[in-house]
Amino acid sequence: MQNVALTNAPLGQALLGDDVLLDVQGLKKYFPIQSGLLRRTAGYLKAVDDVNLVIRLGETLGVVGESGSGKTTLGRCLLRLYEPTSGRILLNVDGRTLSVTELTGRDMRLFRRNVQIIFQDPVASLNPRMNILETVGEPVLVNGLARGRELEERVKDAIVQVGLRVEHLRRYPHSFSGGQRQRIGIARALVVNPKLIVADEPTSALDVSIQAQILNLLHDLQDKFDLTYIFVSHNMAVIRHISDRIAVMYAGKLVELAPKQELLTHPRHPYTESLLAAVPRSVNRKRDRRVVAPGEPPDPINLPSGCAFHLRCKYAQERCRVEEPHLREAATGCFVSCHFAESLELQGISSARQAISYPSAA
Ligand SMILES: Nc1ncnc2c1ncn2[C@@H]1O[C@H](COP(=O)(O)OP(=O)(O)OP(=O)(O)O)[C@@H](O)[C@H]1O
Ligand code: SF4
Ligand SMILES: [Mg+2]
Repeated sequence: MQNVALTNAPLGQALLGDDVLLDVQGLKKYFPIQSGLLRRTAGYLKAVDDVNLVIRLGETLGVVGESGSGKTTLGRCLLRLYEPTSGRILLNVDGRTLSVTELTGRDMRLFRRNVQIIFQDPVASLNPRMNILETVGEPVLVNGLARGRELEERVKDAIVQVGLRVEHLRRYPHSFSGGQRQRIGIARALVVNPKLIVADEPTSALDVSIQAQILNLLHDLQDKFDLTYIFVSHNMAVIRHISDRIAVMYAGKLVELAPKQELLTHPRHPYTESLLAAVPRSVNRKRDRRVVAPGEPPDPINLPSGCAFHLRCKYAQERCRVEEPHLREAATGCFVSCHFAESLELQGISSARQAISYPSAA
């Protein structure tokens, strides 16, 4: 992949190309499985397994996959909410490269300020006892960026940017609708001027019509503030709407990564093909659609040998049962882990069908 060749140069200098924001190398997160009275470690659940990924400045990388494929775990490792089992994450910020897995002191604060999260559930992620000024102002205070009048001005600016009103400043979360609460969550991320926002299913708790408004808001904010997004979703329609490139995860691994249009019209991995085939032909305006592929998802603590997808793959051959495929560049900028990617002719979705399958901005 496009990993930087790491030299022995000390971290802190810029090691990554100017257009790269984040470089993820061999990232693993294994959760121990304990058993017995003594709770001995009997094995590991490989929630994220050897993920390599480069995120470019200003792009939106959509991460899609079935439930349990490791999307949230990946996002949490990138945010250092989870300690990775191994691997390296490099972040370019202020002309320097930080090693995210080894941060301390001031560099940790610099990282925390520049990498923010938007959560799925706008109700659970807001403290009901904090008003909007306190909620949105908290990260400003924690990061020591402003206080008093200056802090209030900063919060006002952020809430106006997300489409709320200054009069809302002293109201509490319960008096807002679901969509407005998600706007508060976005303001909280935005208020510290981050470079990267990891959004984990930020619209899946919302009605489809509200989803479109939030997606369009995120899009506008990206242009205005030069933001880079990693956008996690189990909904292919949402991923399609917002992404520049799409990463497909299966059983903790990245199985395909390509520019959006290429991945949608010309998928190279059979799993991607089955996710696209399951995309509904029209949008149900009320119900959020979770991606599913035919067949049973694998048992995460007892994955099949060889290609983890082989029991569900209609193109599987003997080699797939015994030999694990690795992610490789099949065409410029298009990565896939399938032994037969070059010889398969997989079905994507036509541009015409893409246009009807998600509502435009409300
Ligand atoms: N803290 C944890 N301890 C043990 N196992 C975990 C933990 N968090 C996640 N897992 C397991 O890791 C795997 C990946 O979970 P993860 O939440 O990352 O999936 P996901 O792709 O985000 O799924 P969803 O679409 O349902 O949100 C799952 O098998 C899950 O059960
Ligand atoms: S490696 Fe084999 S089983 Fe895996 S996706 Fe490719 S064809 Fe299917
Ligand atoms: Mg998740």
